Amino acid sequence: MDNFNDLENVKAYLLERLKSASSFDDISKVKSEFLGKKGFLGKLTSDIAKVPTERRKEYGIRLNLLKKDIEDQISTYEKKFEKDLSKLEYSDLYRSLPGKKPPVGHLNIITQAIEEIVEVFAPLGFNRVRYPEVDREYFVFDALNMPETHPARDEWETFFIDYPGDEKLGRLVITPHTSSGQVREMLKGNLPIRMLNISRCGRRQIDISHVPSFYQFEGLVVDENVSTANLIGVLDYFAKKFFGPDRKTRLRPYHFRFTEPSFEVDIDCGICHGKGCKLCKEGWLELGGSGMVHPNVLKAGGIDPGKYTGFAFGWGVERTFMMKSGTKIDDIRYLFSNDLRFLEQF
Ligand code: DAH
Repeated sequence: MDNFNDLENVKAYLLERLKSASSFDDISKVKSEFLGKKGFLGKLTSDIAKVPTERRKEYGIRLNLLKKDIEDQISTYEKKFEKDLSKLEYSDLYRSLPGKKPPVGHLNIITQAIEEIVEVFAPLGFNRVRYPEVDREYFVFDALNMPETHPARDEWETFFIDYPGDEKLGRLVITPHTSSGQVREMLKGNLPIRMLNISRCGRRQIDISHVPSFYQFEGLVVDENVSTANLIGVLDYFAKKFFGPDRKTRLRPYHFRFTEPSFEVDIDCGICHGKGCKLCKEGWLELGGSGMVHPNVLKAGGIDPGKYTGFAFGWGVERTFMMKSGTKIDDIRYLFSNDLRFLEQF
């Protein structure tokens, strides 16, 4: 008889427990207490051995009914709290979940480098200007002392645009260097000149250190009594400001048609400082070209070379940026690759 009583008691206890439950978690606990491996129902099932044989069948039937009843009751309560649970999660979305941060970008490294170059030259009075990226042959070559058939033009691997030429100014080209801004600046007629021309340029070239579309910055100073000493001073100032206070430059004789004398500017290697090491081999790294403005160029700009002299320099923005200490990029094409894994590092 005892065992039958237990069936009743378990049911009453279940109802009591369910009524006092206040969350889905509470119901889960009740469920394992009653239906779990070591739960009440398991215990009642093994108690069957204690029931007198003739009543076992009846006990079994009642036990099964009880099991079904317990399952139904629990599932009713589960459903009730499930609804509450979803309500809770829904409102929590608004209460305590942190919001999703939209990705925030930054300026491209080339833009950053251009801004830095402008900042370095500004205190010396250099004024940033911009001239056409698609220019006339005249400003790119003729005015720079390179007449139509001069072989020096070859070096600029120029893209010519399929468009009618101009009688005086020649064909349209994608400007292959920022030196094309020199005579345009002179023709404005504002002396003295301290120009910083930064522009996109184009040349028919591509490998690990060249791209068809790149940037150059060009300095031009024209005034009375301007000498190579002033050029050296400005170059050294730039090297120290842009690359670090312990860096210095040197000039190597070279040849450009638009400067006389002409130089290639080197900067001492940031690692061995001119002694020579594995990275630089010679101790010096080439920055770009420079020189004293050729009298023919001043004349093309309407300036009297007997009264005025000037110096100029023109370098690649990307190359200069890549040589900056701490920036090790072994292929210039990464800069234009649009690969966020690369660009996000700067
Ligand atoms: N325009 C030259 C180039 O693209 C670089 C250059 C050399 C610019 C000497 C200058 C200069 O202003 O004086 O290779």
